[in-house]
Amino acid sequence: MSTKFLITRAFSVQLDKEDALASFRKEFLFPTFGKRTTYFCGHSLGLQPKKTKELMLTELNDWSTWAVEGHWKATNPWLTYHQSFAKPLSVLTGAYPDEVVAMNSLTANLHFMFASFYRPAGKKIKIITEAWNFPSDRYALESLVKLYGYDPKKVIIELKPAKKNTQLSTEEICACIEKNKSTVALVFFNGVNYYSGQAFDMAAITQAAHLAGAFAGFDLAHAIGNINLHLHDWKVDFAVWCSYKYLNGGPGAVGGAFVHQQHGHDKTTPRMAGWWGHDQNTRFNLEGGFKPLSGAAGFQVSNAPIMNMVGLKASLDLFMEAGWPAISKKRNTMFGYMLFLIKALCTNDHKKQFSIQIITPTLANTHGCMLSIRVHQQKGKELFDVLLKKGFMLDWREPDVIRIAPVPLYNTYQEVYSFVLELSKHAVLVEK
Ligand SMILES: Cc1ncc(COP(=O)(O)O)c(C=O)c1O
Repeated sequence: MSTKFLITRAFSVQLDKEDALASFRKEFLFPTFGKRTTYFCGHSLGLQPKKTKELMLTELNDWSTWAVEGHWKATNPWLTYHQSFAKPLSVLTGAYPDEVVAMNSLTANLHFMFASFYRPAGKKIKIITEAWNFPSDRYALESLVKLYGYDPKKVIIELKPAKKNTQLSTEEICACIEKNKSTVALVFFNGVNYYSGQAFDMAAITQAAHLAGAFAGFDLAHAIGNINLHLHDWKVDFAVWCSYKYLNGGPGAVGGAFVHQQHGHDKTTPRMAGWWGHDQNTRFNLEGGFKPLSGAAGFQVSNAPIMNMVGLKASLDLFMEAGWPAISKKRNTMFGYMLFLIKALCTNDHKKQFSIQIITPTLANTHGCMLSIRVHQQKGKELFDVLLKKGFMLDWREPDVIRIAPVPLYNTYQEVYSFVLELSKHAVLVEK
């Protein structure tokens, strides 16, 4: 793979020719919206793997053939269907297979994990989180502390960077944890912020939380299948995610959770229990007396939503075939290429209607594949509308940001080139 980028279209063609993952593009279905469109919205909803339909038909056929017996006799028996996710999810999260489980949905999993890992005691009742958390996470945190009778404004510390228009630094986060060490019970961040695309230093945040005697948990909605994760080695206590973004599981697909072995192997770890988390040897004795399975599986509550897992299965097969190191390498190259082109082409050589600023941190390990661009003009959404009209499916986040995610498994360098070329006709890059 070439390392020094050039601004010619021919160079983007060359990059595609050298792309070790190029063949995976044909494994996905691309929406056309009635005309040829470049899809850069994998951060919101990943594309459908072609295999999904076939796998879905298998389940529908097995259901009609076997009905209840499908739990044992289906092509992929439903009783154990969820277990096939342990291996690939462990690869993507840097975990042991027994530390991960596909279950529920993201915000539901947040509530389940908070029930286990928010254990206010004495003065230690506070939660440190980022101010620009996704709203669902904020609602979950607020409702959690209210359940304990606390005032969210007094108990939840929402951290903002000291300097306006900058990103939260690891130092600022760790200093805040240290400063509140006598009162903090839980530190909860995103792996990658949904708005800015900033990837947080989860190892450092976890270490600081533990030094302060608090648990550390992460929302990996924008991180899983996007950035390198080493949850076990980082000693993260818990994490949750959805599977409909970079994991291409389909709208509302089953979510997932990580519970560190330290807690997963401890049967006394508090939890909200249900029969699917119960010891599988005695699950069907249908008796009282909850005996948790060891590991993250012991945090399941309900039987597996098979139809909601099929898309994830199809996609994870592709992830495993492609191999995480190759995906991770292409993500960095594509991101670097897009950045290079924006800097090289969005210059002030003639009058342009919009000025843009990159708000995603660009140093290694501080971002995933998504780049967020702030548009300075009041009618900034018009830039988004122009790009959409030209066939680029991006997304607009109020009040002023366009998010663009070239996804290694299905996007091409030529798409990145065409996008930046179009962007450069309308926008000039400015520092602030
Ligand atoms: C960071 C983040 N957290 C939480 C959610 C909510 O997810 P769900 O509706 O699956 O609970 C989303 C959805 O996009 C998200 O991006």
